[in-house]
Amino acid sequence: MKKNQFNSEDHLYLQVADGLEKMIAGEVLRIGDKLPSVRVLSEEYGISMGTAFQAYYHLEGRGLIESRPKSGYYVRFNHQRFPQLPDQVKPDALSHDVSVKEMIASIYADIAAKDVINFALGVPDPSLLPAAKINKSVVYALRNSKDHCIGYEHTQGNLELRQQVAKLSFNWGGKIKPEEVIITSGCLEAVMMCLKAVTNHGDTVAVECPTYFGIYQSIENLGLKVVEIQADPVDGLDLDALQKAIKKFPIKACVAVPNFNNPLGTCMSDENKKKLVEIITKNNIPLIEDDTYGELHFGKNRPKACKVYDTKGLVMYCASLSKSLAPGYRIGWALPGKFFEQVKQIKRIQNISSPSLTQAAMAHYLKNGRYEYHLKNLRKALHTQSLRYMQALIEYFPADTKISRPTGGFTFWIELNKKVDSFKLRTEAMKHKISIVPGKIFSASIDYSNYIRLSFGKPWSDDADYGLMMLGKIIKKLT
Ligand SMILES: Cc1ncc(COP(=O)(O)O)c(C=O)c1O
Repeated sequence: MKKNQFNSEDHLYLQVADGLEKMIAGEVLRIGDKLPSVRVLSEEYGISMGTAFQAYYHLEGRGLIESRPKSGYYVRFNHQRFPQLPDQVKPDALSHDVSVKEMIASIYADIAAKDVINFALGVPDPSLLPAAKINKSVVYALRNSKDHCIGYEHTQGNLELRQQVAKLSFNWGGKIKPEEVIITSGCLEAVMMCLKAVTNHGDTVAVECPTYFGIYQSIENLGLKVVEIQADPVDGLDLDALQKAIKKFPIKACVAVPNFNNPLGTCMSDENKKKLVEIITKNNIPLIEDDTYGELHFGKNRPKACKVYDTKGLVMYCASLSKSLAPGYRIGWALPGKFFEQVKQIKRIQNISSPSLTQAAMAHYLKNGRYEYHLKNLRKALHTQSLRYMQALIEYFPADTKISRPTGGFTFWIELNKKVDSFKLRTEAMKHKISIVPGKIFSASIDYSNYIRLSFGKPWSDDADYGLMMLGKIIKKLT
């Protein structure tokens, strides 16, 4: 590395840290190697001692290096050395009724229990969310609306909020107008309404698998059947399998989470997103695109949405603020394309409109709350947490454990030894006040009995360390 090659003072330490991270990833610097002293680093890179310290602090925060008292910094972890990925299981080529209600109810019963080390959480920890700024926006909304937000909002939603949603679409490559947006009570309501708009009772829909259990519940609730399309832990939805399913079944809609699927954390490539839209367009099948996690990317750029490639209005884009800002405010939206009127009518019939106060507050926050700044910190925190949790999983779980490598979001998909029944594991873990989500509820037909979803939405702590250590012990006992 040559001296004085950096220009932007602000990010100097990040550039130095990135360079070192690449050396660790490429095993030029190996686990246990001593790093240059801060003085040597500063001389070698032509940076100040303060900047050299910052670079080391940054890498330390990411769990890649550690400082040893009176000795200096050492390489601690190489995240290229991940364990094997979970196996991709092919669903049978059949259409299924869905029935996961009882299992999910039993998990929800204690999902929010206090004094539990919660690895089942479906949201980032509240400490990572900007509560004080959101509170200010609520007060602003109350004081500045003509009726104190007591009256109904329009069915389509608060205009200022729709303007902000339209602005956010630039991030994923969209050019959306506020008139195209329908505000919903969270993303799941958006998905449900889109499904309702394009299917009738008894119809068949294609769903990527494994996927979020709420999607299966919506399908079940509407009396629909599913054909499951396997998703790969690296590439996401298998497009060949989708094409085969389209030939075999009268598929009326397709549901996918292309960006950081829950539970896999996988992101489809732009090329595959484009192909997916070509396939559904050729077959005239609406695609319900759930982009709840799109903003939570660990890489540099926000991934695009399939909606970008939509030329016929067949992509029904759904998203929300639940995973990035305020899950309890229940603010989501749909961009239903050519099914706009149907979805709007369903929204009106279902619940007239979403709550006025939270819409006005979120509109104000998005306009004034430095959302981008918050997202930057949240992404960084989640990425760091993913590395910390991964280290502990490698340390505490049996060597045959297979773990996904999320590139965004906050969940690991973990395949355990076949002897482990994850429902039994959950019961045992709850005796120690530790919760996880068994894999079985992420499919209607595949037996994911030896899989779990483990959330790293909580900042790393002694509790998390203890929880994973105990889980590892219980798994070993069950194996
Ligand atoms: C893929 C996916 N879609 C939708 C939701 C629900 O989102 P919301 O709370 O905005 O309804 C979740 C929550 O876990 C999810 O994982």
